[in-house]
Amino acid sequence: MIKMNLAFAFLCLFTVEPWRVCSQQQQQRLLVNMTLVPSARASGALCLDGSLPAYHLHRGFGAGKDNWLLQFEGGGWCNDLKSCLDRAKTRRGSTRYMTKWEVFSGILSNNATLNADFYNWNRVKLRYCDGASFTGDAVFTNKTTTLHFKGQKIWEAIIRDLLPLGLGKARKALLSGCSAGGLATFHHCDNFAKYLPTNASVKCLSDAGFFLDERDISLNHTMRYNFKSLVQLQGIEKNLNGNCTRALYFPDLCFFPQYALRYISTPYFILNSAYDVFQFSHILVPPSADMHGHWKQCKANLAECTADQIDTLQGFRLDMLGALRPFYMNSRRGGMFINSCFAHCQSELQETWFGDDSPRINNKTIAEAIGDWYFSRNISKEIDCAYPCDATCHNLIP
Ligand SMILES: *[C@@H]1O[C@H](CO)[C@@H](O)[C@H](O)[C@H]1NC(C)=O
Ligand SMILES: *[C@@H]1O[C@H](CO)[C@@H](O)[C@H](O)[C@H]1NC(C)=O
Ligand SMILES: *[C@@H]1O[C@H](CO)[C@@H](O)[C@H](O)[C@H]1NC(C)=O
Ligand SMILES: *[C@@H]1O[C@H](CO)[C@@H](O)[C@H](O)[C@H]1NC(C)=O
Ligand SMILES: *[C@@H]1O[C@H](CO)[C@@H](O)[C@H](O)[C@H]1NC(C)=O
Ligand SMILES: *[C@@H]1O[C@H](CO)[C@@H](O)[C@H](O)[C@H]1NC(C)=O
Ligand SMILES: *[C@@H]1O[C@H](CO)[C@@H](O)[C@H](O)[C@H]1NC(C)=O
Ligand SMILES: *[C@@H]1O[C@H](CO)[C@@H](O)[C@H](O)[C@H]1NC(C)=O
Repeated sequence: MIKMNLAFAFLCLFTVEPWRVCSQQQQQRLLVNMTLVPSARASGALCLDGSLPAYHLHRGFGAGKDNWLLQFEGGGWCNDLKSCLDRAKTRRGSTRYMTKWEVFSGILSNNATLNADFYNWNRVKLRYCDGASFTGDAVFTNKTTTLHFKGQKIWEAIIRDLLPLGLGKARKALLSGCSAGGLATFHHCDNFAKYLPTNASVKCLSDAGFFLDERDISLNHTMRYNFKSLVQLQGIEKNLNGNCTRALYFPDLCFFPQYALRYISTPYFILNSAYDVFQFSHILVPPSADMHGHWKQCKANLAECTADQIDTLQGFRLDMLGALRPFYMNSRRGGMFINSCFAHCQSELQETWFGDDSPRINNKTIAEAIGDWYFSRNISKEIDCAYPCDATCHNLIP
């Protein structure tokens, strides 16, 4: 019954700090048109409500005209019929209710000053309307209702639409996404590489998608239950990496990045905050684990957290670093940027991606760290010191 609706989380967070919305609006904004994918209908690759899937494409130019950046949109999940029925009536489950023009900023910006490494690439935003990080393949139907759980097919249909537009001849490519979209990159990374020329440089980036398999403060495996029900409802298991599902006693755990990661062979970059606000409020301290509201004030204002609560948050950070340790140690071509900010999605907003007062580790912005890694300019494995040492954060919680 847990609804994990990120749209709502964002709204709350942004009302806490309204200046964020304002500063977004003041910038010169690039708005990009929506493209529906009619050919998706043939393979049943439809949004929850049966509408056509869509993407937004801004063409590359100059030296970037053969390079492609694909970005999965995020926005939580729906893991039972009720939450999926609700979602099907919103922009999270239907292209009918989506904005037809999307702002391209941060890593999607076309301004060389603001996005030095990717501004002239072909840049695509894949709209999210399946509720399962583009991995489902099932249909629910009874006399009154049909719900399409077709994320995997939507991914395939969009790729097939883009291949003849130039993606099929890409020289360089990066598959990215944030939140539920960041999770999608783990599950489609190697598959993405297979569609592209064998001599292309293909890499993947997850932003705020490293959802941890962690017990909540009441010691319940809340996130495990949530993902397990999602995997069952939307028929996901068959689409997870077979080497992972064969190796694990509970194959649905492969939906968690920390188990899937070692089976991915394409070069990978993990951008995440060690105190990701979504994970804080939905994995570590979900409402169901805090019935008496002991964490209510701490969740709204970090200055109100008790010493014990800060300890609990530090423990979460250490567990995340622990889960990332094999990747840190063993992945030669991998990169990471794990900062200590109360943030969620730092590559899509200009002010957190690249700017004078953007978040930094060792004086490196996220844009620089990812660019250094993508173009092999330098090793890029940055881990921040623990909260509250980092003064460069753009925290979503005051
Ligand atoms: C929007 O995109 C469609 C194709 O998806 C195109 O036919 C239409 O001309 C575009 N509109 C504008 C104003 O760019
Ligand atoms: C690019 O961004 C810079 C810095 O914000 C700004 O001064 C410049 O006008 C922008 N260029 C374009 C073409 O929008
Ligand atoms: C069909 O399923 C939905 C979702 O579970 C439910 O709300 C509805 O009552 C069902 N309709 C019939 C006719 O069983
Ligand atoms: C890959 O090979 C094709 C065909 O030989 C060639 O046209 C293309 O330039 C190569 N791409 C890269 C990135 O080297
Ligand atoms: C644990 O979390 C799951 C998912 O939220 C929930 O269904 C279950 O009731 C919880 N168990 C306990 C003991 O709180
Ligand atoms: C599984 O591992 C084998 C051997 O390492 C590899 O050849 C194969 O491509 C992998 N399969 C997947 C789905 O990653
Ligand atoms: C940090 O980097 C900026 C350029 O991005 C540079 O101007 C500044 O001197 C650097 N600071 C330190 C302490 O190295
Ligand atoms: C590479 O990274 C190291 C450590 O962050 C730094 O000291 C060095 O200056 C970087 N080199 C280049 C060429 O950027």
